[in-house]
Amino acid sequence: MKISKNLFATFLLLLCFSITQLHAAGEMKEPMHPDWSFEGPLGKFERASLQRGYQVYTEVCSGCHSMNLLSYRNLIEEGGPEFSESQAKAMAAAFEVKAAPNADGEVEMRPAILSDKFVSPYENEQQGRAANGGAYPPDLSVMVKARHGGADYLYSLLLGYVDAPSDIKLDDGVYYNEYAKGQKIAMPQVLYEDAVVYTDGTTATPEQMARDVTMFLTWAAEPKLEARKRIGFKVISYLLILSVLLYFTNRQIWKDTH
Ligand code: HEC
Repeated sequence: MKISKNLFATFLLLLCFSITQLHAAGEMKEPMHPDWSFEGPLGKFERASLQRGYQVYTEVCSGCHSMNLLSYRNLIEEGGPEFSESQAKAMAAAFEVKAAPNADGEVEMRPAILSDKFVSPYENEQQGRAANGGAYPPDLSVMVKARHGGADYLYSLLLGYVDAPSDIKLDDGVYYNEYAKGQKIAMPQVLYEDAVVYTDGTTATPEQMARDVTMFLTWAAEPKLEARKRIGFKVISYLLILSVLLYFTNRQIWKDTH
């Protein structure tokens, strides 16, 4: 008994130690954790928030960040922002893509259609870097899955711009952000009060915009989240019912042997 207690204490101590070590290594502040509607076994995205999130991405982020894995038709699919087909067509048509070469071999521009991929702000990575002082704004399609902390991290990062402490010197094009690795990031603060005017009349505070765009990016990274949770819930319910039935069947079968 004594030994196992000691072992347990040692184990706990080691665990605490490794956790603090991990934090020290990453130098990252624990991200904020807002209430996300998509968490939990029955989690769902908020449709209106996804729609506003698309607006924030388009009007604010898409000037620097691509989302190569998305097509405009994804915007009407079930489990996503669920825009109507005519809305999504109009959204696509606001962008231009290269048309197929004409008879003379010239390539002209045409409005995008539903089957086109989201239009990228830059032709290639080099152009992206050149426009951002050498830093490349990464593609945001699966960013929520690609970063430790996921949605919480993204949300916090977007709101984490504060004045740098006086003893920290920042190079040109580098900004101080409480939640960034090493507190430095080459992305400027982009979410200011009323950075967008929401079409549904919601007040565009930085928190609201960060929430909406993070919800949108979470859906982009896992478009089948709602279906996955629905199926998971059904499977668990089925297994629970089956377990109860088997329990009683078992008792029935063995009742005479007691
Ligand atoms: C003016 C250009 C610009 C705009 C606008 C912009 N970003 Fe960025 N973003 C950057 C650059 C440059 C980087 C790379 C930063 C680095 O490597 O330090 C970046 C990096 C990021 C990262 C990755 C951070 C990490 O952990 O590596 C995320 C997430 C991100 N941006 C989200 C957004 C979102 C969401 C928006 C819109 C609300 C947005 N950005 C708008 C330029 C921009």
